[in-house]
Amino acid sequence: MSAAGCARPWPSVLARHPTRRPAEGEPVTDQQALHLHGSRYIGVRSRFYDDVVRDALRGGVRQIVLLAAGLDTRAFRLDWPADVTLYEVDQPQMIDFKEDVLRGEQAQPGCRRIAVGTDLREDWPAALTTAGFTRSVPAAWVAEGLLAYLPADAEERLLRQIHQLSAPGSRIALDRIAQVNRLTSDAAPLDQLSSRHIHPIVGGCYGDPRWSRCALLGRRR
Ligand SMILES: C[S@@+](CC[C@H](N)C(=O)[O-])C[C@H]1O[C@@H](n2cnc3c(N)ncnc32)[C@H](O)[C@@H]1O
Repeated sequence: MSAAGCARPWPSVLARHPTRRPAEGEPVTDQQALHLHGSRYIGVRSRFYDDVVRDALRGGVRQIVLLAAGLDTRAFRLDWPADVTLYEVDQPQMIDFKEDVLRGEQAQPGCRRIAVGTDLREDWPAALTTAGFTRSVPAAWVAEGLLAYLPADAEERLLRQIHQLSAPGSRIALDRIAQVNRLTSDAAPLDQLSSRHIHPIVGGCYGDPRWSRCALLGRRR
């Protein structure tokens, strides 16, 4: 998506993003090193979740819910069967920003895309069902890069809510940072660097003890 076609000015930090991989041995600034590190990680993660979504489609699932979709562009870049509805759930400010950018680009999704602005710590199931989500139909839930930003009680509530909304045949994919507390001390240099340029990547995560997600999701409703 080009910065030029966008209705809003891009934050200067985005304008300084590297747009290509540096050659072997080419010097990079601290900030570029941070973005390059992030792009490697996010690249692998995006591909993993692309495969999760494609698997769900192959399995006949036709409701996809991207929880904390952020600037996810799967609606625009994957090949979709005609009858899929994709829900993108995120905080209202994020949804407003994204819709503004997409309008500026006149971007057309390849599926029925519904953006739902709500807070995942609150009554988001009501917002999702009001937007058209059907409980009686299997869904694929994608929680990519989300759980570290929720405190443990909100995460547990979210997983229980997903369970209640999931018809048989539904599936979920999520990721977690195994030990945020350990990361917080080991990752001090990364946090200092990211704080200078964006926000504290690690310090912005919750490290409180968690339930086993598998145990929680494996239980009957
Ligand atoms: C690291 S981004 C991940 C975005 C996207 N899933 C991806 O992988 O590119 C985290 C997202 O979580 C969203 N988020 C964090 N807390 C949230 C909350 N309480 N309710 C809804 N969204 C939330 C943020 O707005 C942001 O878009």
